[in-house]
Amino acid sequence: MLDTVVVGALWAMLPAYVPNNAAVLAGGGKPIDGGRTLGERRVLGDGKTWRGTLVGTLAGVGLALASNAVDEIVGDAVGVTLPAFPLGAAVGLALGAMLGDVAASFLKRRSGRQRGAAFPGVDQLDFVVGALVCAAAIAPAWFGETFTLPRLLVVVVVTPALHVGTNVLAYQLGLKAEPW
Ligand code: CTP
Ligand code: MG
Repeated sequence: MLDTVVVGALWAMLPAYVPNNAAVLAGGGKPIDGGRTLGERRVLGDGKTWRGTLVGTLAGVGLALASNAVDEIVGDAVGVTLPAFPLGAAVGLALGAMLGDVAASFLKRRSGRQRGAAFPGVDQLDFVVGALVCAAAIAPAWFGETFTLPRLLVVVVVTPALHVGTNVLAYQLGLKAEPW
């Protein structure tokens, strides 16, 4: 029962989990804020680029479409009915994950944190909140059917642990400057 909820919840979040990691690999180039400042500090900083955001979003949408192609096979194998992603849901989750991360950088700069500084809690959940809010806005009916309360609870509890794990791994592999 619980394992069914966990598998369904994590599958539903796959398009939101990929974008930030893809952005780390693809990042660089022009910053979204174009170097502009708000008061003394950068609006977003050099860590939020057009290329990273675009590639991250496309990676999330691509993964959603790919998972639609295999969800029945995988679902049968694990004995769980897995959620499929209409395009609006895929875009909402992937773009929302990126926008949540961008919003967090805005808050980090406003609170005086330098690029790369840790912001415990926000770092782990910014993309989750962004993804869920955007998916609910773009595909409300799908969101209501897919993100049941038990699944939402699993997402909020399990995602921070997954996020910490993947970032430590990316740091150890030399892909990321900080382990968060
Ligand atoms: N990245 C990007 N565009 C994004 C998000 C991430 O290009 N929208 C790339 C950048 O190269 C960034 C790296 O991924 O440095 C790591 O992302 P993140 O940890 O979110 O950025 P930080 O550099 O730590 O900056 P911030 O303090 O603003 O989070
Ligand atoms: Mg960072």
